[in-house]
Amino acid sequence: MDKIVVWYLRMSVIYFVAGAALGMLMLVSPGETGVYRDIHVHFNLLGFMSMMIYGVGYHILPKFSGVNIYSVKIMNLQFWLSNIGLIGMAVSWPMTIVNYAAGIAGPLLILSAALSLTAAILFAFNILKTIRPVKM
Ligand code: HEM
Ligand code: HEM
Repeated sequence: MDKIVVWYLRMSVIYFVAGAALGMLMLVSPGETGVYRDIHVHFNLLGFMSMMIYGVGYHILPKFSGVNIYSVKIMNLQFWLSNIGLIGMAVSWPMTIVNYAAGIAGPLLILSAALSLTAAILFAFNILKTIRPVKM
């Protein structure tokens, strides 16, 4: 397995634990649910689920097509964009909800979300340039 694929999988399960812990936090402290729900959802769905699919997809989809991944550079760059994006969202999203340092948190959230979106687009591009039909 490629080193960066291992890192996609490692980060995925770390986000899973963080997402589940935030779920637990909301259960024991229902008053805080509004602050943590969005980042709980995105740690689980964008962190755990999407990151797992990025890693497994990069490992297995080129093999199904009998080729190498279209761009190793994009695969590496996307790892950093998706993680910086999600961690940025995790820091700034609750801050915007409680209106703490709004002048910094608001723009940071937009920038982080844009990084996450860019990472998703890069994944789509890299995979679409890789997969092709194979004669069975
Ligand atoms: C230990 C595991 C988990 C716990 C304790 C937990 C707990 C919670 C809690 C307390 C809420 C807030 C409910 C409310 O609005 O009052 C919530 C919302 C949510 N959770 Fe989890 N959760 C867990 C795992 C997951 C996982 C693995 C996923 C997805 C893969 C997930 C997806 C969601 C979604 C999408 C919402 C938002 C639902 C809505 O729109 O109201 N959760 N969770
Ligand atoms: C670029 C990446 C993403 C960004 C910037 C983003 C942003 C957002 C925003 C702004 C909301 C509304 C939150 C609110 O009004 O409280 C939201 C809700 C939601 N998003 Fe995302 N999202 C992203 C990716 C995803 C992905 C990949 C999934 C699922 C696989 C997902 C699942 C959800 C769900 C289930 C909700 C509703 C949560 C709730 O009701 O509390 N998002 N997202």
